[in-house]
Amino acid sequence: MKKSYITTPIYYVNDAPHIGHAYTSVMCDALARLKRLNGCEVKLLTGTDEHGQKVEKSALTRNKSPQEFCDEISQKFRDLADFLGISYSDFIRTTQDRHKKTAQIFWQKLNENGWIYKDVYEGWYAIRDEAFYGEDELVDGKAPSGAEVTWHKEESYFFRLGDFQDILLKIYEQFPEFINPKSKRNEVISFVKGGKELIKGSLKDLSISRTSFKWGIKVPDDENHIMYVWLDALTNYLSALNYPQGADFKEFWEDKSSIVTHIVGKDILRFHGVYWPAFLIGSKFKKSDLDSIKLEDLFGVLPDRIFAHGWWTNEGQKISKSLGNVIDPYLEIEWLKSMNIEEELAVEYFRYFLVREVIFGNDGNYSREVFMSKVNSELANNIGNLAQRTLSMIFKNSDGFIAKNPQIDSQGKELIDFGLEIENKISHLIESCDFDEILNLTVNFASKANEYLHHKAPWNLKKENKIDEMNDVLYVACEVIRQLAILLLPFTPNSAKKILDFLNIANEERNFANLSNHLKFGSKINEPKAVFARISELKQ
Ligand code: MSP
Repeated sequence: MKKSYITTPIYYVNDAPHIGHAYTSVMCDALARLKRLNGCEVKLLTGTDEHGQKVEKSALTRNKSPQEFCDEISQKFRDLADFLGISYSDFIRTTQDRHKKTAQIFWQKLNENGWIYKDVYEGWYAIRDEAFYGEDELVDGKAPSGAEVTWHKEESYFFRLGDFQDILLKIYEQFPEFINPKSKRNEVISFVKGGKELIKGSLKDLSISRTSFKWGIKVPDDENHIMYVWLDALTNYLSALNYPQGADFKEFWEDKSSIVTHIVGKDILRFHGVYWPAFLIGSKFKKSDLDSIKLEDLFGVLPDRIFAHGWWTNEGQKISKSLGNVIDPYLEIEWLKSMNIEEELAVEYFRYFLVREVIFGNDGNYSREVFMSKVNSELANNIGNLAQRTLSMIFKNSDGFIAKNPQIDSQGKELIDFGLEIENKISHLIESCDFDEILNLTVNFASKANEYLHHKAPWNLKKENKIDEMNDVLYVACEVIRQLAILLLPFTPNSAKKILDFLNIANEERNFANLSNHLKFGSKINEPKAVFARISELKQ
């Protein structure tokens, strides 16, 4: 079975989770479920990033020890992942021993391979971004992200990032799939190229240790230094696989046939698209061998794909704590519950909207009005209605039996074959994380089926006592519903499962390989209930 390793970023525990975190996790979960349905064995990793000055500061302002504070907030992230039905296989915390051990082993490898040296760091640091900035990068005295910066001068270990410019550019060029979407890939390339003109012919070497505070992982053999939080954090992807000896590391990372995908927000692409590949190459190859590395040598060393998604705004405004417009996923579920949507369904609607509203990679705007209209038109009125009309007609008029020997006309065949077209495209769409197109096809498929039903009007056939013809039409509609439910499994898993349960579809047939494997003639369905309730604001 093909293997696939998918990771969310690990979330800073300086504050409670919000829609941005929910979004990254839901996208990763959708990808994980898509791949499982496509026959892959998937490991989905999520977790929390607990070290660094930002977290230490937040703990102090709340009068808590950093560890106590981390335990509390990390739990909130885990609760949110559970609440949203994220199908993670592991939850990593950077304060766990398994992680600290890995980060130190990784450091030692970089050191043994000649990539680390000691010097003095002098420059700007933004605690909010946990990032160093050059004078030339500041905008009006602040980090490009708007974060406040402070001047630092301290002894520090450095990583020879500067040496990686050529190899990084070769990687971006040779593997255009490495960084997605294309627009973001271009930004990374110009960042790496930009270094050439700006800083003495190469990217800047990177300060990777701090002495001015303590909340972090100790640098091996130098107690005074703790690791730079990004070096610590990035290695989480390896700790969870028991790097370097674990079977999971060998199977999910080193094995060239396994696909490793990191999904991250656009704000942290620099760390994943530039620092992380350089660290990984440095952990595997000696400085003296850099020029002789062939790109094929990097399979099983680097991740395969890094996807950067955009940012959400709230009703058109940038989301920020100071503006007081941070969107709390739990409050959104409460809002839906206040309109009589049950919690389980509310979570599915929230997940659906997050994936559906924004083309992956673009920024998106969160608006409750658009939320309601999208969910109502696509899930309630389109797919839900199709399922409810069709299944209840079969249940009421044919004792729950699907036609025993349906005669499918050309329109019916054409409709069913649309599912085959989707099946043929799906692997490619999954690999390119084109959730948008998968859902376009799904919704379009349902619209076509509704048009077909409308045109064939089985309710009239019934009145005219043309029972066989009615059953033929209902068979076609039912077959489409089966396929639609399979296609919805990654996005609204519980509701899709309910539809498949009504149809009595065996568990082993709930996957993409069975998309075009038609419903068994004459099989029996269970009593259907409406799955996608309409959201309507209650009039006060
Ligand atoms: N701890 C680092 C990641 C380390 S990974 C080795 C971090 N954490 S974070 O909590 O600040 O952000 C985690 C993710 O949430 C990022 O991918 C970020 O882009 C995403 N979001 C935070 N706010 C967001 C929005 N308003 N909209 C969409 N996603 C945003 O960075």
